[in-house]
Amino acid sequence: MLKKDTFLKDKPQLQDLYWPPVNFYQINQLLHNYLTTNTSLEEFIANEKRYDKIGEKLNIALSEIYAYMYGYKDSILFQRQNKDLDILILTKKIEVEEYFLHNWLNIEKFPDTSFLNQEDLAIYFEEESINSEGMHHSFFDFIADEMDREAMIHFLKTEICRNEYVDDEVALLTVGLQGNMKKVSASNLWDECGCGLLQNFHTYWLRRLMLNITDYESFLDWRLTKPWQFSLTSNIFNCLLSNPALKLAAYGCFTTTEQWVECHFNKIIKGMRRVGLCSGDALVYFEKHKTIDPHHTEELVQAIRFQSPRLTKEELAIIHKGSLLAIKVAVLAYDRMLDFYTKNSNFN
Ligand SMILES: [Fe+2]
Ligand SMILES: [Fe+2]
Repeated sequence: MLKKDTFLKDKPQLQDLYWPPVNFYQINQLLHNYLTTNTSLEEFIANEKRYDKIGEKLNIALSEIYAYMYGYKDSILFQRQNKDLDILILTKKIEVEEYFLHNWLNIEKFPDTSFLNQEDLAIYFEEESINSEGMHHSFFDFIADEMDREAMIHFLKTEICRNEYVDDEVALLTVGLQGNMKKVSASNLWDECGCGLLQNFHTYWLRRLMLNITDYESFLDWRLTKPWQFSLTSNIFNCLLSNPALKLAAYGCFTTTEQWVECHFNKIIKGMRRVGLCSGDALVYFEKHKTIDPHHTEELVQAIRFQSPRLTKEELAIIHKGSLLAIKVAVLAYDRMLDFYTKNSNFN
């Protein structure tokens, strides 16, 4: 419950900024044509044979589609209804996601581990998913020990984008869950929303980080240059969140990535301190999550263990598939991020 005088007293200074930090902009012509005409996906990715080039096209389309889904300022139909365009964009959404999951990520080839019961699946999370290659990827050691200040600032901007609407994602995750799983998702959302205080919204901590390394207007311009591989992990989560049949896969995906936060954020903090980004404003987002997310992880896994009605074998399998997807996509993303920072020397 909120405090009685909350609206009078809860007015932190940075609340005036529109969030997420996006602006109206023109999407590129090729993508615009694809999303707003009968152009097929084959035509959109035509001539692209290389895995990463196809990945780039799929992911810029997905990012655009999810901005549309959330209705933020940068979305193609911001506060506008247009039946014909809505139909086209939603059709393209299904088409791109299908290709992304089945062709690009090849989910049919995933191992078919069957869990006997939810207690076994909880043990999988406690023992395997947390120790996967997503958790221990060398990209985070690079951040801790080698990344220079300029690259670090670029990386932090991508982190702001990756996390800028986690509260809305968790809100979507909550819809349609049952019992304990809904309870922990709602608890997570309440934390994301600062337990009722605007200055403790996790996105408020991102505002503080952003203004510590850049200014709002510059950030709006910068984000248009963000390379596609930095959107991969958000895109897979939103793909699962927005497909009714994959709702439980979203839960498995989220649980897995939450499990890695403490380890990854410790390494990010180490790297930030090493390059002199040590202020409270810079570090608050990462410092707070180091302690909050282990709790979230514990809750998410325990909710599986104690879920009632009990999860069926099919439900266990789909949660597990979401976890495998999180790992596969994270490794794909981290490999490419590491490449990006080691092969380039100029970052804006
Ligand atoms: Fe958070
Ligand atoms: Fe969390």
